[in-house]
Amino acid sequence: MMAIDYSERIPNNVELSSDRRLQRALEAWQPRFLDWWKDLGPEGTSAYDVYLRTAISTDANGWANFGYVKMPEYRWGIFLADREADRVIPFGDNKGAAAWQEVPGEHRSTLRRLIVTQGDTEPASVEQQRLLGRTAPSLYDLRNLFQINVEEGRHLWAMVYLLHAYFGRDGREEAEAMLERHSGDPDKPRILGAFNEQTPDWLSFFMFTYFTDRDGKYQLASLAESGFDPLSRTCRFMLTEEAHHMFVGETGVGRIVQRTCELMREHKTDDVRALGAIDLATLQKYLNFHFSVSLDLFGQEASTNAANYYTAGVKGRFLETKIADDHKLTDATYDILGLQDGALVSRAVPALSALNERLRQDYIDDCARGVLRWNKVIERAGIPFELKLPHRAFNRRIGAFADARVSPEGKVVSEADWAANAGMWLPTDEDRAYVRSLMGAAVIEPGKYAHWIAPPARGINNQPADFQYVRFN
Ligand SMILES: [Fe+2]
Ligand SMILES: [Fe+2]
Repeated sequence: MMAIDYSERIPNNVELSSDRRLQRALEAWQPRFLDWWKDLGPEGTSAYDVYLRTAISTDANGWANFGYVKMPEYRWGIFLADREADRVIPFGDNKGAAAWQEVPGEHRSTLRRLIVTQGDTEPASVEQQRLLGRTAPSLYDLRNLFQINVEEGRHLWAMVYLLHAYFGRDGREEAEAMLERHSGDPDKPRILGAFNEQTPDWLSFFMFTYFTDRDGKYQLASLAESGFDPLSRTCRFMLTEEAHHMFVGETGVGRIVQRTCELMREHKTDDVRALGAIDLATLQKYLNFHFSVSLDLFGQEASTNAANYYTAGVKGRFLETKIADDHKLTDATYDILGLQDGALVSRAVPALSALNERLRQDYIDDCARGVLRWNKVIERAGIPFELKLPHRAFNRRIGAFADARVSPEGKVVSEADWAANAGMWLPTDEDRAYVRSLMGAAVIEPGKYAHWIAPPARGINNQPADFQYVRFN
Protein backbone atom coordinates (compact mmCIF):
# COMPACT_ATOMS: atom_id res chain seq x y z
CA MET A 1 0.00 0.00 0.00
CA MET A 2 1.32 3.43 -0.90
CA ALA A 3 1.17 6.05 1.84
CA ILE A 4 -0.12 9.50 1.04
CA ASP A 5 2.46 12.22 1.47
CA TYR A 6 0.76 15.10 3.28
CA SER A 7 3.95 17.10 3.72
CA GLU A 8 3.75 18.14 0.06
CA ARG A 9 1.81 21.17 -1.12
CA ILE A 10 -0.29 18.76 -3.17
CA PRO A 11 -0.83 15.58 -1.14
CA ASN A 12 -0.25 12.56 -3.33
CA ASN A 13 0.77 8.94 -3.56
CA VAL A 14 2.24 9.21 -7.05
CA GLU A 15 5.69 10.44 -6.04
CA LEU A 16 4.95 13.82 -7.49
CA SER A 17 8.17 15.32 -6.09
CA SER A 18 10.20 13.09 -8.39
CA ASP A 19 8.74 14.79 -11.47
CA ARG A 20 9.54 18.50 -11.16
CA ARG A 21 7.92 19.52 -14.44
CA LEU A 22 4.63 17.87 -13.56
CA GLN A 23 4.75 19.15 -9.99
CA ARG A 24 5.26 22.72 -11.19
CA ALA A 25 2.42 22.45 -13.70
CA LEU A 26 0.00 21.18 -11.05
CA GLU A 27 1.17 23.78 -8.54
CA ALA A 28 0.40 26.41 -11.15
CA TRP A 29 -3.09 24.99 -11.64
CA GLN A 30 -3.78 24.83 -7.88
CA PRO A 31 -4.40 28.59 -7.27
CA ARG A 32 -6.81 28.64 -10.20
CA PHE A 33 -8.68 25.77 -8.64
CA LEU A 34 -8.85 27.66 -5.34
CA ASP A 35 -10.12 30.78 -7.11
CA TRP A 36 -12.79 28.66 -8.74
CA TRP A 37 -13.71 27.16 -5.34
CA LYS A 38 -13.98 30.66 -3.86
CA ASP A 39 -16.16 31.93 -6.70
CA LEU A 40 -18.32 28.89 -7.47
CA GLY A 41 -17.89 26.46 -4.56
CA PRO A 42 -20.29 26.44 -1.58
CA GLU A 43 -21.33 30.03 -1.02
CA GLY A 44 -20.03 31.97 1.97
CA THR A 45 -18.46 29.02 3.75
CA SER A 46 -14.75 29.77 3.85
CA ALA A 47 -14.65 30.43 7.62
CA TYR A 48 -16.67 27.34 8.61
CA ASP A 49 -15.01 24.47 10.43
CA VAL A 50 -16.55 21.33 8.95
CA TYR A 51 -16.26 17.81 10.36
CA LEU A 52 -14.86 16.09 7.26
CA ARG A 53 -13.11 12.88 6.45
CA THR A 54 -9.82 13.01 4.59
CA ALA A 55 -8.20 9.99 2.98
CA ILE A 56 -5.02 8.91 4.74
CA SER A 57 -4.36 5.87 2.60
CA THR A 58 -5.93 4.33 -0.46
CA ASP A 59 -6.96 0.97 0.99
CA ALA A 60 -10.50 0.25 2.15
CA ASN A 61 -9.73 1.34 5.73
CA GLY A 62 -7.95 4.53 4.79
CA TRP A 63 -11.00 6.62 5.41
CA ALA A 64 -11.07 6.75 9.18
CA ASN A 65 -9.52 10.20 9.42
CA PHE A 66 -12.20 12.66 10.62
CA GLY A 67 -11.61 16.16 11.89
CA TYR A 68 -12.63 19.82 11.58
CA VAL A 69 -11.36 21.46 8.41
CA LYS A 70 -11.94 24.83 6.77
CA MET A 71 -12.93 23.85 3.26
CA PRO A 72 -10.48 26.10 1.38
CA GLU A 73 -7.78 24.32 3.42
CA TYR A 74 -9.02 20.85 2.55
CA ARG A 75 -6.10 18.70 1.35
CA TRP A 76 -7.22 18.05 -2.21
CA GLY A 77 -4.74 15.63 -3.62
CA ILE A 78 -3.87 12.93 -6.07
CA PHE A 79 -4.61 9.43 -4.90
CA LEU A 80 -4.47 6.34 -7.05
CA ALA A 81 -5.37 2.84 -5.94
CA ASP A 82 -2.31 0.63 -5.60
CA ARG A 83 -0.79 -0.76 -8.74
CA GLU A 84 -1.64 -4.39 -9.34
CA ALA A 85 1.45 -6.40 -10.24
CA ASP A 86 1.31 -7.78 -13.80
CA ARG A 87 -2.11 -6.36 -14.54
CA VAL A 88 -3.26 -7.20 -18.06
CA ILE A 89 -5.87 -5.57 -20.29
CA PRO A 90 -8.99 -7.56 -19.42
CA PHE A 91 -10.98 -7.17 -22.67
CA GLY A 92 -10.99 -6.15 -26.31
CA ASP A 93 -8.52 -6.76 -29.12
CA ASN A 94 -5.57 -6.42 -26.72
CA LYS A 95 -6.99 -8.73 -24.08
CA GLY A 96 -4.19 -10.39 -22.12
CA ALA A 97 -1.50 -7.88 -23.09
CA ALA A 98 0.23 -5.94 -20.32
CA ALA A 99 -1.84 -2.94 -19.18
CA TRP A 100 -0.53 0.37 -20.59
CA GLN A 101 1.44 2.57 -18.21
CA GLU A 102 1.60 5.30 -20.88
CA VAL A 103 -1.08 6.42 -23.33
CA PRO A 104 -0.90 4.45 -26.57
CA GLY A 105 -0.69 6.94 -29.45
CA GLU A 106 -3.59 5.43 -31.37
CA HIS A 107 -5.98 5.80 -28.40
CA ARG A 108 -4.78 9.16 -27.24
CA SER A 109 -7.70 11.31 -28.37
CA THR A 110 -10.27 8.72 -27.27
CA LEU A 111 -8.80 8.52 -23.78
CA ARG A 112 -8.52 12.26 -23.52
CA ARG A 113 -12.16 12.70 -24.48
CA LEU A 114 -13.31 10.12 -21.91
CA ILE A 115 -11.24 11.73 -19.15
CA VAL A 116 -12.41 15.25 -20.01
CA THR A 117 -16.07 14.18 -20.12
CA GLN A 118 -15.79 12.50 -16.72
CA GLY A 119 -13.71 15.32 -15.23
CA ASP A 120 -16.15 18.00 -16.37
CA THR A 121 -18.98 16.53 -14.29
CA GLU A 122 -17.07 16.83 -11.02
CA PRO A 123 -16.82 20.63 -10.63
CA ALA A 124 -20.21 20.94 -12.36
CA SER A 125 -22.04 19.29 -9.47
CA VAL A 126 -20.28 21.57 -6.98
CA GLU A 127 -21.52 24.55 -9.00
CA GLN A 128 -25.03 23.14 -9.13
CA GLN A 129 -25.12 22.72 -5.35
CA ARG A 130 -23.42 25.92 -4.25
CA LEU A 131 -26.46 27.62 -2.68
CA LEU A 132 -27.90 24.63 -0.85
CA GLY A 133 -26.09 25.42 2.39
CA ARG A 134 -28.48 28.33 2.95
CA THR A 135 -31.41 25.95 3.40
CA ALA A 136 -29.80 22.88 4.96
CA PRO A 137 -32.33 20.84 6.95
CA SER A 138 -29.74 20.12 9.68
CA LEU A 139 -26.05 20.35 10.55
CA TYR A 140 -25.74 16.66 9.70
CA ASP A 141 -27.03 17.29 6.18
CA LEU A 142 -24.95 20.43 5.78
CA ARG A 143 -21.84 18.47 6.63
CA ASN A 144 -22.72 15.74 4.13
CA LEU A 145 -23.25 18.33 1.40
CA PHE A 146 -19.80 19.80 2.08
CA GLN A 147 -18.19 16.37 2.22
CA ILE A 148 -19.58 15.61 -1.23
CA ASN A 149 -18.49 19.01 -2.53
CA VAL A 150 -14.86 18.65 -1.41
CA GLU A 151 -14.72 15.13 -2.79
CA GLU A 152 -16.08 16.18 -6.17
CA GLY A 153 -13.35 18.81 -6.08
CA ARG A 154 -10.86 16.02 -5.46
CA HIS A 155 -12.29 14.00 -8.34
CA LEU A 156 -11.56 16.98 -10.54
CA TRP A 157 -7.98 16.86 -9.26
CA ALA A 158 -7.83 13.17 -10.11
CA MET A 159 -8.76 13.81 -13.74
CA VAL A 160 -6.59 16.91 -14.01
CA TYR A 161 -3.64 14.88 -12.80
CA LEU A 162 -4.15 12.38 -15.62
CA LEU A 163 -4.42 15.17 -18.19
CA HIS A 164 -1.27 16.89 -16.94
CA ALA A 165 0.77 13.74 -16.42
CA TYR A 166 -0.08 11.89 -19.63
CA PHE A 167 -1.39 14.30 -22.28
CA GLY A 168 1.18 17.06 -22.45
CA ARG A 169 0.17 20.45 -23.70
CA ASP A 170 -3.38 19.67 -24.83
CA GLY A 171 -3.93 17.95 -21.49
CA ARG A 172 -2.98 21.14 -19.69
CA GLU A 173 -5.33 23.13 -21.92
CA GLU A 174 -8.18 20.74 -21.17
CA ALA A 175 -7.45 21.12 -17.44
CA GLU A 176 -7.80 24.90 -17.80
CA ALA A 177 -11.07 24.52 -19.65
CA MET A 178 -12.53 22.50 -16.76
CA LEU A 179 -12.52 25.70 -14.71
CA GLU A 180 -13.81 27.85 -17.57
CA ARG A 181 -16.99 25.93 -18.42
CA HIS A 182 -19.70 26.42 -15.80
CA SER A 183 -22.93 24.66 -15.05
CA GLY A 184 -25.80 26.39 -16.86
CA ASP A 185 -23.54 28.97 -18.52
CA PRO A 186 -25.21 29.88 -21.84
CA ASP A 187 -21.85 30.47 -23.55
CA LYS A 188 -19.67 27.83 -21.93
CA PRO A 189 -21.93 25.17 -20.43
CA ARG A 190 -20.80 21.90 -18.92
CA ILE A 191 -20.50 19.06 -21.43
CA LEU A 192 -23.41 16.86 -20.29
CA GLY A 193 -27.03 18.01 -20.05
CA ALA A 194 -27.82 16.78 -16.53
CA PHE A 195 -24.95 18.87 -15.22
CA ASN A 196 -26.46 22.08 -16.50
CA GLU A 197 -29.71 21.57 -14.57
CA GLN A 198 -30.12 23.39 -11.29
CA THR A 199 -30.13 21.70 -7.91
CA PRO A 200 -32.46 24.23 -6.30
CA ASP A 201 -33.67 22.35 -3.23
CA TRP A 202 -32.71 19.46 -0.97
CA LEU A 203 -35.14 16.99 -2.47
CA SER A 204 -33.43 17.60 -5.83
CA PHE A 205 -30.05 17.23 -4.11
CA PHE A 206 -30.92 13.85 -2.59
CA MET A 207 -32.41 12.63 -5.89
CA PHE A 208 -29.32 13.90 -7.73
CA THR A 209 -26.91 12.13 -5.39
CA TYR A 210 -28.98 8.95 -5.59
CA PHE A 211 -29.50 8.88 -9.37
CA THR A 212 -26.88 11.08 -11.01
CA ASP A 213 -23.92 10.27 -8.75
CA ARG A 214 -24.83 6.64 -9.44
CA ASP A 215 -24.34 7.24 -13.17
CA GLY A 216 -20.88 8.39 -12.08
CA LYS A 217 -20.37 5.10 -10.28
CA TYR A 218 -21.10 3.13 -13.46
CA GLN A 219 -18.94 5.32 -15.66
CA LEU A 220 -16.06 5.11 -13.17
CA ALA A 221 -16.51 1.36 -12.78
CA SER A 222 -16.25 0.79 -16.52
CA LEU A 223 -13.21 3.10 -16.74
CA ALA A 224 -11.71 1.23 -13.76
CA GLU A 225 -11.46 -1.76 -16.15
CA SER A 226 -9.49 0.31 -18.66
CA GLY A 227 -6.28 -1.01 -20.18
CA PHE A 228 -4.77 2.42 -19.44
CA ASP A 229 -3.59 1.57 -15.94
CA PRO A 230 -3.29 5.07 -14.42
CA LEU A 231 -6.93 5.73 -15.37
CA SER A 232 -7.99 2.40 -13.90
CA ARG A 233 -6.20 3.09 -10.63
CA THR A 234 -7.58 6.63 -10.41
CA CYS A 235 -11.15 5.45 -10.94
CA ARG A 236 -10.83 2.60 -8.47
CA PHE A 237 -10.00 5.03 -5.71
CA MET A 238 -12.71 7.52 -6.74
CA LEU A 239 -15.31 4.75 -6.44
CA THR A 240 -14.59 4.42 -2.72
CA GLU A 241 -15.45 8.11 -2.28
CA GLU A 242 -18.49 7.97 -4.56
CA ALA A 243 -20.15 5.36 -2.33
CA HIS A 244 -20.76 7.98 0.36
CA HIS A 245 -22.48 10.31 -2.11
CA MET A 246 -25.01 7.66 -3.04
CA PHE A 247 -25.48 6.84 0.64
CA VAL A 248 -26.40 10.48 1.24
CA GLY A 249 -28.92 10.32 -1.61
CA GLU A 250 -30.50 7.05 -0.61
CA THR A 251 -30.81 7.89 3.08
CA GLY A 252 -31.88 11.45 2.32
CA VAL A 253 -34.82 10.33 0.18
CA GLY A 254 -35.51 7.54 2.69
CA ARG A 255 -35.71 10.02 5.56
CA ILE A 256 -38.14 12.23 3.62
CA VAL A 257 -40.29 9.18 2.84
CA GLN A 258 -40.20 8.24 6.51
CA ARG A 259 -41.28 11.70 7.69
CA THR A 260 -44.08 11.82 5.14
CA CYS A 261 -45.36 8.40 6.21
CA GLU A 262 -45.21 9.34 9.91
CA LEU A 263 -47.37 12.39 9.23
CA MET A 264 -49.78 10.45 7.00
CA ARG A 265 -50.34 7.93 9.76
CA GLU A 266 -50.51 10.37 12.59
CA HIS A 267 -53.04 12.63 10.84
CA LYS A 268 -54.76 9.93 8.79
CA THR A 269 -54.41 11.91 5.57
CA ASP A 270 -52.65 11.81 2.20
CA ASP A 271 -52.52 15.57 2.11
CA VAL A 272 -49.29 16.11 3.96
CA ARG A 273 -48.68 19.38 2.16
CA ALA A 274 -51.12 20.92 4.60
CA LEU A 275 -48.74 19.64 7.29
CA GLY A 276 -45.59 21.06 5.70
CA ALA A 277 -44.21 17.81 4.30
CA ILE A 278 -43.63 16.37 0.83
CA ASP A 279 -46.41 14.09 -0.42
CA LEU A 280 -45.56 10.72 -1.96
CA ALA A 281 -46.95 11.73 -5.37
CA THR A 282 -44.48 14.62 -5.53
CA LEU A 283 -41.62 12.33 -4.49
CA GLN A 284 -42.59 10.02 -7.36
CA LYS A 285 -42.48 12.93 -9.84
CA TYR A 286 -39.02 14.01 -8.68
CA LEU A 287 -37.88 10.41 -8.91
CA ASN A 288 -39.24 10.21 -12.48
CA PHE A 289 -37.39 13.36 -13.45
CA HIS A 290 -33.99 12.55 -11.96
CA PHE A 291 -34.02 8.93 -13.12
CA SER A 292 -34.88 9.80 -16.72
CA VAL A 293 -32.35 12.64 -16.92
CA SER A 294 -29.66 10.32 -15.53
CA LEU A 295 -30.50 7.57 -18.05
CA ASP A 296 -29.61 10.01 -20.82
CA LEU A 297 -26.05 10.19 -19.48
CA PHE A 298 -25.37 6.67 -20.76
CA GLY A 299 -25.73 7.79 -24.37
CA GLN A 300 -27.17 6.11 -27.44
CA GLU A 301 -28.52 2.55 -27.16
CA ALA A 302 -26.57 1.42 -30.21
CA SER A 303 -23.22 3.16 -30.38
CA THR A 304 -20.17 2.58 -32.53
CA ASN A 305 -18.17 4.76 -30.14
CA ALA A 306 -18.94 2.39 -27.28
CA ALA A 307 -17.93 -0.56 -29.48
CA ASN A 308 -14.68 1.14 -30.43
CA TYR A 309 -13.83 2.02 -26.82
CA TYR A 310 -14.30 -1.61 -25.87
CA THR A 311 -12.44 -3.14 -28.77
CA ALA A 312 -9.57 -0.74 -28.14
CA GLY A 313 -9.42 -1.75 -24.47
CA VAL A 314 -10.05 1.74 -23.10
CA LYS A 315 -13.52 1.34 -21.51
CA GLY A 316 -14.89 -1.98 -20.26
CA ARG A 317 -18.14 -3.25 -18.84
CA PHE A 318 -19.32 -3.04 -15.24
CA LEU A 319 -17.33 -5.68 -13.30
CA GLU A 320 -15.72 -6.83 -16.55
CA THR A 321 -13.37 -9.33 -14.93
CA LYS A 322 -16.25 -11.05 -13.10
CA ILE A 323 -18.18 -11.75 -16.32
CA ALA A 324 -17.82 -15.27 -17.75
CA ASP A 325 -17.49 -14.80 -21.53
CA ASP A 326 -14.73 -14.22 -24.08
CA HIS A 327 -14.35 -10.47 -23.23
CA LYS A 328 -14.15 -9.72 -26.96
CA LEU A 329 -17.85 -9.97 -27.85
CA THR A 330 -17.20 -10.17 -31.58
CA ASP A 331 -19.89 -12.85 -32.08
CA ALA A 332 -22.28 -11.96 -29.25
CA THR A 333 -25.60 -10.16 -29.56
CA TYR A 334 -27.62 -8.14 -27.08
CA ASP A 335 -31.31 -7.19 -27.12
CA ILE A 336 -32.06 -3.50 -27.08
CA LEU A 337 -35.37 -1.69 -27.09
CA GLY A 338 -36.12 0.80 -29.82
CA LEU A 339 -38.99 2.59 -31.44
CA GLN A 340 -40.49 1.18 -34.63
CA ASP A 341 -43.63 2.50 -36.31
CA GLY A 342 -44.68 4.15 -33.08
CA ALA A 343 -44.20 1.06 -30.92
CA LEU A 344 -41.49 -0.11 -28.54
CA VAL A 345 -39.78 -3.09 -30.13
CA SER A 346 -36.91 -5.23 -28.93
CA ARG A 347 -34.23 -6.28 -31.41
CA ALA A 348 -30.92 -8.09 -31.21
CA VAL A 349 -27.86 -6.07 -32.16
CA PRO A 350 -24.14 -6.85 -31.98
CA ALA A 351 -23.25 -6.86 -28.28
CA LEU A 352 -20.33 -4.54 -28.97
CA SER A 353 -22.56 -1.76 -30.18
CA ALA A 354 -24.99 -2.24 -27.26
CA LEU A 355 -22.48 -1.59 -24.47
CA ASN A 356 -24.06 1.71 -23.42
CA GLU A 357 -27.39 -0.03 -23.08
CA ARG A 358 -25.89 -2.87 -21.12
CA LEU A 359 -24.29 -0.41 -18.70
CA ARG A 360 -27.62 1.44 -18.47
CA GLN A 361 -29.29 -1.87 -17.56
CA ASP A 362 -26.73 -2.50 -14.78
CA TYR A 363 -27.49 1.00 -13.54
CA ILE A 364 -31.27 0.48 -13.62
CA ASP A 365 -30.95 -2.75 -11.62
CA ASP A 366 -28.90 -0.88 -9.03
CA CYS A 367 -31.37 2.03 -8.86
CA ALA A 368 -34.19 -0.44 -8.22
CA ARG A 369 -32.56 -1.72 -5.03
CA GLY A 370 -32.84 1.63 -3.24
CA VAL A 371 -36.44 2.04 -4.40
CA LEU A 372 -37.22 -1.30 -2.74
CA ARG A 373 -35.77 0.00 0.51
CA TRP A 374 -37.83 3.20 0.31
CA ASN A 375 -40.93 1.11 -0.30
CA LYS A 376 -40.17 -0.93 2.81
CA VAL A 377 -40.51 2.28 4.83
CA ILE A 378 -43.90 2.96 3.23
CA GLU A 379 -44.99 -0.64 3.74
CA ARG A 380 -43.98 -0.64 7.41
CA ALA A 381 -46.17 2.41 7.88
CA GLY A 382 -49.07 0.41 6.44
CA ILE A 383 -49.60 2.80 3.55
CA PRO A 384 -50.79 1.33 0.22
CA PHE A 385 -48.38 3.18 -2.09
CA GLU A 386 -45.37 2.07 -4.05
CA LEU A 387 -42.64 4.22 -5.55
CA LYS A 388 -41.61 2.95 -8.98
CA LEU A 389 -38.83 3.55 -11.45
CA PRO A 390 -40.42 4.84 -14.66
CA HIS A 391 -39.93 2.95 -17.91
CA ARG A 392 -36.53 3.50 -19.54
CA ALA A 393 -38.19 5.20 -22.53
CA PHE A 394 -39.95 7.79 -20.38
CA ASN A 395 -38.92 11.45 -20.76
CA ARG A 396 -35.73 10.79 -22.67
CA ARG A 397 -33.78 13.42 -24.59
CA ILE A 398 -31.00 11.21 -25.92
CA GLY A 399 -31.19 7.92 -27.79
CA ALA A 400 -33.92 5.92 -29.48
CA PHE A 401 -36.78 7.46 -27.47
CA ALA A 402 -35.75 11.08 -27.73
CA ASP A 403 -38.57 11.90 -30.16
CA ALA A 404 -41.20 9.68 -28.60
CA ARG A 405 -43.72 10.40 -25.88
CA VAL A 406 -43.80 7.44 -23.52
CA SER A 407 -45.68 7.14 -20.22
CA PRO A 408 -43.92 6.03 -16.99
CA GLU A 409 -45.55 2.62 -17.55
CA GLY A 410 -43.90 2.33 -20.96
CA LYS A 411 -46.87 3.07 -23.20
CA VAL A 412 -46.30 5.22 -26.28
CA VAL A 413 -48.74 8.12 -26.05
CA SER A 414 -49.81 10.95 -28.32
CA GLU A 415 -48.59 14.50 -27.92
CA ALA A 416 -52.03 15.42 -26.59
CA ASP A 417 -51.96 12.61 -24.01
CA TRP A 418 -48.51 13.68 -22.96
CA ALA A 419 -49.58 17.29 -22.56
CA ALA A 420 -52.61 16.21 -20.52
CA ASN A 421 -50.59 13.97 -18.19
CA ALA A 422 -47.10 15.45 -17.97
CA GLY A 423 -48.08 17.35 -14.84
CA MET A 424 -48.85 14.06 -13.08
CA TRP A 425 -45.62 12.47 -14.20
CA LEU A 426 -43.04 15.20 -13.79
CA PRO A 427 -42.68 18.00 -11.25
CA THR A 428 -44.72 21.04 -12.29
CA ASP A 429 -43.65 24.61 -11.62
CA GLU A 430 -46.15 24.56 -8.79
CA ASP A 431 -44.62 21.37 -7.30
CA ARG A 432 -41.17 22.87 -7.48
CA ALA A 433 -42.37 26.10 -5.91
CA TYR A 434 -43.98 24.11 -3.11
CA VAL A 435 -40.82 22.10 -2.40
CA ARG A 436 -38.78 25.28 -2.48
CA SER A 437 -41.20 26.91 -0.06
CA LEU A 438 -40.30 24.23 2.50
CA MET A 439 -36.63 25.14 2.29
CA GLY A 440 -36.46 27.63 5.12
CA ALA A 441 -33.37 29.12 6.67
CA ALA A 442 -30.72 26.50 7.47
CA VAL A 443 -31.41 24.52 10.65
CA ILE A 444 -28.20 24.99 12.60
CA GLU A 445 -29.11 23.90 16.10
CA PRO A 446 -27.30 20.60 16.80
CA GLY A 447 -29.66 17.63 16.75
CA LYS A 448 -32.55 19.57 15.19
CA TYR A 449 -34.09 18.78 11.77
CA ALA A 450 -36.39 20.57 9.38
CA HIS A 451 -40.00 19.47 9.70
CA TRP A 452 -40.15 17.62 6.37
CA ILE A 453 -37.31 15.14 6.99
CA ALA A 454 -36.65 12.50 9.66
CA PRO A 455 -33.33 12.38 11.53
CA PRO A 456 -30.77 9.83 10.30
CA ALA A 457 -30.52 6.42 11.95
CA ARG A 458 -26.99 7.19 13.16
CA GLY A 459 -24.45 9.99 13.08
CA ILE A 460 -21.40 10.31 10.87
CA ASN A 461 -18.50 8.35 12.35
CA ASN A 462 -20.96 7.28 15.10
CA GLN A 463 -21.16 10.76 16.55
CA PRO A 464 -24.04 11.48 18.97
CA ALA A 465 -27.33 12.94 17.73
CA ASP A 466 -26.55 16.48 18.92
CA PHE A 467 -23.05 16.61 17.43
CA GLN A 468 -21.85 19.99 16.13
CA TYR A 469 -20.91 18.93 12.59
CA VAL A 470 -20.28 22.49 11.44
CA ARG A 471 -18.92 25.43 13.45
CA PHE A 472 -19.77 28.73 11.84
CA ASN A 473 -17.26 31.02 13.59
FE1 LIG B 1 -17.32 12.46 -8.40
FE1 LIG C 1 -20.19 12.00 -6.50
